[in-house]
Amino acid sequence: MLRKIKESVTYITKHFNVKPIAGVILGTGLGSFVSEVSVENEIPYYDIPHFPDPGVEGHIGKLLLARHHKIPVVIMQGRVHYYEGFPIETVIYPIRVLKELGIETLFLSNAAGGMNAEFSVGDLMVIKDHINLMPNPLIGPNINELGPRFVDMSEPYDKALIDTAFDIAKKMDIRLRKGCYVGTTGPTYETAAEYKYLRTIGGDAVGMSTVPEVIVARQMGLRCFAMSVITDLGVPGKIERLTHQMIQQVASASEPRMALVFKHLIASLAE
Ligand code: HPA
Repeated sequence: MLRKIKESVTYITKHFNVKPIAGVILGTGLGSFVSEVSVENEIPYYDIPHFPDPGVEGHIGKLLLARHHKIPVVIMQGRVHYYEGFPIETVIYPIRVLKELGIETLFLSNAAGGMNAEFSVGDLMVIKDHINLMPNPLIGPNINELGPRFVDMSEPYDKALIDTAFDIAKKMDIRLRKGCYVGTTGPTYETAAEYKYLRTIGGDAVGMSTVPEVIVARQMGLRCFAMSVITDLGVPGKIERLTHQMIQQVASASEPRMALVFKHLIASLAE
């Protein structure tokens, strides 16, 4: 694993000659955030040794080096998911590589189903906590060079970044929600009974990514900030038939607001 990470990093640093201080992972329908920052270089995932390449519609699969307010950031346009059949250690492999590239903060985005009855389709939800219903990516022999065996999860999402996001959103008149994200394997969306169950155990939103990435990022000491676009509702009386295209459409429509918050948050790292 360590040798593979080094090989990926060696390849990437041939194309990116600055050390990024933050990483950004763009989820379903959220890829056009990149037009908001100045992109200096890009590499398709399939060119990077050992890097997994997503095959899902709406996930392009490119690593970009960009600058925003002079701050170098590395952007993952697209991610791989556990439901694609990749082993969980492959799903989180890019996070290991981003850390080795030098990032200190990780920003993540995703599309999620809302289970909190106060939420509306198109809302943005800042993730304040999560419930992991996927395989834990740290199962297996621990590689001590990467982080500890047992990882604290008392505050996986950085409180200071969450507060800053709310300050930014208030100034821009953007409504943000805050809640707990449940990570499931997918690829099925939930039955009405499952939404009810996930709400009962404390979830405000449910999706098929982010949690394994955050677990690994926390093991390596990265600060994490994550936001969901609520693309549909798992609320009794409001449950509809879903298609991936519908999810993508809602995510794309909400993206400009999400991109604004992300952009200003990244700029705040320089302060
Ligand atoms: N469930 C799971 N994943 C999702 C959903 C959902 O309702 N919406 C978007 N991603």
